[in-house]
Formats: sequence, structure tokens, C-alpha cells
Amino acid sequence: MKRIGLLTSGGDCQALNATMRGVVKGLANNIKELEVYGFNDGYRGLIYSDFRMLTSRDFSGILTVGGTILGTSRQPFKQMRTPDENGLDKVEAMKHTYYKLRLDCLVILGGNGTQKTANLLREEGLNVLHLPKTIDNDIFGTDMTFGFYSAVNIACNTIDCIHTTASSHNRVFIVELMGHRAGWLTLYAGVASGADIILIPEIPYKLDKVVEAIKRRAERGSGFTILAVAEGAIPEEIAAMSKKEMKKALADIAANYPSISYKLADDILKATGTEIRVTVPGHMQRGGSPGPYDRILSTRIGSECAKLILDEEYGYMVGLKGTEICKVPLGEVAGKLKTVDPECQEIQQAKRIGISFGD
Ligand code: F6P
Repeated sequence: MKRIGLLTSGGDCQALNATMRGVVKGLANNIKELEVYGFNDGYRGLIYSDFRMLTSRDFSGILTVGGTILGTSRQPFKQMRTPDENGLDKVEAMKHTYYKLRLDCLVILGGNGTQKTANLLREEGLNVLHLPKTIDNDIFGTDMTFGFYSAVNIACNTIDCIHTTASSHNRVFIVELMGHRAGWLTLYAGVASGADIILIPEIPYKLDKVVEAIKRRAERGSGFTILAVAEGAIPEEIAAMSKKEMKKALADIAANYPSISYKLADDILKATGTEIRVTVPGHMQRGGSPGPYDRILSTRIGSECAKLILDEEYGYMVGLKGTEICKVPLGEVAGKLKTVDPECQEIQQAKRIGISFGD
């Protein structure tokens, strides 16, 4: 007999349902009695004891369904130790729900913030397993997060569409992609769709280098240029500022432009006289069905998670290392971010074929 709790927390992504399906099928096929408690809207459900009992049938037919059947919400890790508006101690409340339901394990699907709270619950003595989801692919200790490749696919399709119209009109286009602190999605979608300039948070850009790359293309007879820009891309002069100055400079940009891409478009227009179009696919990147890669990754992660529960091994993130699904101690990875190394092969190879990173 096993009693497990499931919750999905933070921003959603395409393969959350596929992963939960893997966990529940992996358990249901190997033990006679299983109770599954699904917490509604992430940690909120655990804090306020808002859950529903689920059966194997609830996990049938959801491999290809995006979003999350449990709902999700953002419950910032930083505020977990702060009582709610009624003075409720959230951590104690989560522990209370866990013990009340006599759970064997809590399976938590989410990104970096979610992982920190999962680790906190582990430190508080609960049996937890964390499954790494995010379109940002920025979770330390796993080579890949589920959701990432589905988002790359959408971002890539967006740039492909922009490509045809940009070449017809001989225009410069910016496609802004998600990723505040990590540029994985922009890097992969940019390379996959033949973007000419890729700007990511890890490589602060120089405006003159961006302008130079656009002009160079024009001189060589290419009338259009495509820039894949992460929402966290940052001009070099701002990246060099002190924390306080940087906060102010970014706040100034936010007060004057919808996002960094619009400021960049304005700067390029001033420098070249060329009119720029900006496209922002936004939350579309997190929507729709998971692609085949994510369906496989999620099924493998979910199935491995079930094995850990059957073996009563807790306190891990279930991640991917090379081609193997592995368990990584939560305490070793929680609170760390996996960003793009500016010297990595992917960047060097992209530069070699002429892609500019604005540096
Ligand atoms: O899930 C991560 C992420 O997709 C970031 O890349 C993005 O900046 C953020 O979520 C958007 O979050 P929200 O849904 O709260 O607008």
C-alpha cells in the first residue's frame, strides 16, 4: 500500500500531465493498493488542505495534454516562512496536511522556486521527490527539464513564420522569447531557426555590435535580419552597473517600453534608420501539447520516480544525466541555477557559422 501526494507548482509547461501519468502508472502497475492525493493549485493546496483523491483513470489519456490537471500557482519560496494574512504558519500547515493524510511521499513537479520549497519540506522531515519542469531548462543538476523542448518547438515555429515575412519585406525583426535569467530557450530556438543574432542574459550585448551585424548582412545582400532576444537580455553598460544602479536602469526601461526588445528596436532605429518589428509569442511558449521528446523524457522521469517510491528512496530530484535518468540529492542542487556558459560549445559553434551574440 502506498499513499502519495502530487502537486504542480509555479509556471506551467507542456509535459506536467505526462510526467504525473508516468508516476501513477509506474506505481499502479506494480502494487495492489495505491492512494493518490492531488493537491489543487500547487503548494496552496497543500497549505490549505485542498485536495482530491485521484484514481488511475484520471491519468489515462493525458500524455498529450498540456497544462496541468491539478492547476498551479506561484507561492514564492521567500514567503514560505511568512505567515499568511490570517497568521497561518504555511510550513506547519503543509506538514499537518502531509501527516493527516499519512502520505508515504510527496511528488512535487516544478522549477527552481518549487524545488527550494521541496528541499525545505525535506529538511522538515517529509519524504519528497522533485521532478524538474520548466521551459527555461535552468534547473541545476539535470541536463534537461521537461517542457523545454516543447517550448523550443513553439519558439522555433514562431521564428520560422517570421522568417518568411521578414524576407518578403526585407525587414529587421526581433522575436522575444521567455527566459529572464537563462538563455537556453533563446539559444536553442535561435540556432534551430537560423536566427542571425541571438541575445541572451548570460552574454550582455553591445548595441554597436548588434548594429554592425545588421549592417554586415545588408552589405552582403541580405535585406532582412532576425534577432532572437531573451526577455532577460541586457545591454553591456547596464550589466556593468552596481546592483542598485542596475535596478534603477531596468526600472527606467520598464517604465518606457513593454520589454527590453522594444528598447532595443528603438535603439537600432536610432542607429540605423531601419524600422524594426517586434514579435513576442509570450505564454504561447508554455502552451499546447508536449512534443515527442518531452513525452518520452516525462514518461521516463515519472517511471523512475515510481521506482524510487517503491524502493522507499526519498529526498531526490529525478533528472537526466547524458542519456540516463538519475536521482540527485535535493540538498545538493536546491537554490542553484543552471545558466548558459558563454564559452560552451553551442555558443562557439554558433559563432563559427556567423551568428552574432552582440559581444
Ligand atoms: O516558467 C518560467 C517562465 O516561463 C519564465 O521564462 C517567464 O519569464 C515566466 O515564467 C513568466 O511567468 P508568468 O506566467 O508568471 O508570467
